[in-house]
Amino acid sequence: MQTCWIVYNGSLTHDKFIDQALLLQEAAEKQGIQAILVKNYELLMNVQQSLPLRPDFVVFLDKDILLAKYLKNQGIPVFNDPNVIEICDNKAQQYIMLAHAQVPMPSTIIAPKVYREFSIQHTGYYEQVLETLQLPMIIKEAHGSFGMRVYLIETREQFFEKVEELSGIEYVFQEFIGNSRGRDIRVNVVGGQVVACMHRHSETDFRANITNGGTASPIILTERQKEVAIQAAAALNAEFAGVDLLFGDDEEPLVCEVNGVAHIRNIYNVTGINVGDFMISYILSKVEAFAI
Ligand SMILES: Nc1ncnc2c1ncn2[C@@H]1O[C@H](COP(=O)(O)OP(=O)(O)O)[C@@H](O)[C@H]1O
Ligand SMILES: [Mg+2]
Repeated sequence: MQTCWIVYNGSLTHDKFIDQALLLQEAAEKQGIQAILVKNYELLMNVQQSLPLRPDFVVFLDKDILLAKYLKNQGIPVFNDPNVIEICDNKAQQYIMLAHAQVPMPSTIIAPKVYREFSIQHTGYYEQVLETLQLPMIIKEAHGSFGMRVYLIETREQFFEKVEELSGIEYVFQEFIGNSRGRDIRVNVVGGQVVACMHRHSETDFRANITNGGTASPIILTERQKEVAIQAAAALNAEFAGVDLLFGDDEEPLVCEVNGVAHIRNIYNVTGINVGDFMISYILSKVEAFAI
């Protein structure tokens, strides 16, 4: 019998993280795989030593990228690939790659590195950003989930306050897609195929994240929405991706972000689809292909 480890973050005590791991465990066991839930800190990353036990593959549901790399170096197939998790975990990095692949997305400027407690105000840099993107605009930290580090900036005062506050932190400036205020689409892509999607909307916030108060409902994607979601996942080499799509002018899809470790519980509740089933089938076909 094949075994897999489902690695998740043990320091995050919120139920949704273990719940996520359980959905994958259920999917794996349905396909005859023994699936063991492993908290990231349960694996001692003693870098010069080999792990005493090793599974046939690892489904990595954490952003402990160093652990993902360590496991990969031990010769264990890790999904998503650690490099993909790393790129997706940094919105600035992923926007550079998405733009390079000409994926449709809001106009985006990567903030320059400014060392903490230093400032580049009065150099004219920020005026250039304001002139290029105009207000209102979005400021988004490179690392963040559930809408928590995404800010809608409506005034110059808010803009300058935020850039000072973020000194020393990686972030981006982004065109605010007003047509998409409080609504977006989450598309789960597995192995280059769309396997599930949902519409998310919020009456109270510009962010559609469910954790932030949004509600979700089923949606049928247009061919263009599917195409853009698949293109975004491919641009980042993401075998599994949770792609957020915004509604641009004429409802044209624009990529908001790509999640390399997408949560699958909400989409399961809305659609009845366990994305984990597709993830496990995909991994099995790939691991078997390796073995041949
Ligand atoms: N450029 C934008 N224009 C309009 N709304 C946006 C934009 N960027 C993000 N949002 C809204 O904010 C939410 C959170 O942004 P996102 O980039 O997906 O970060 P997170 O990783 O926190 O989910 C999105 O789901 C969307 O509703
Ligand atoms: Mg998002």
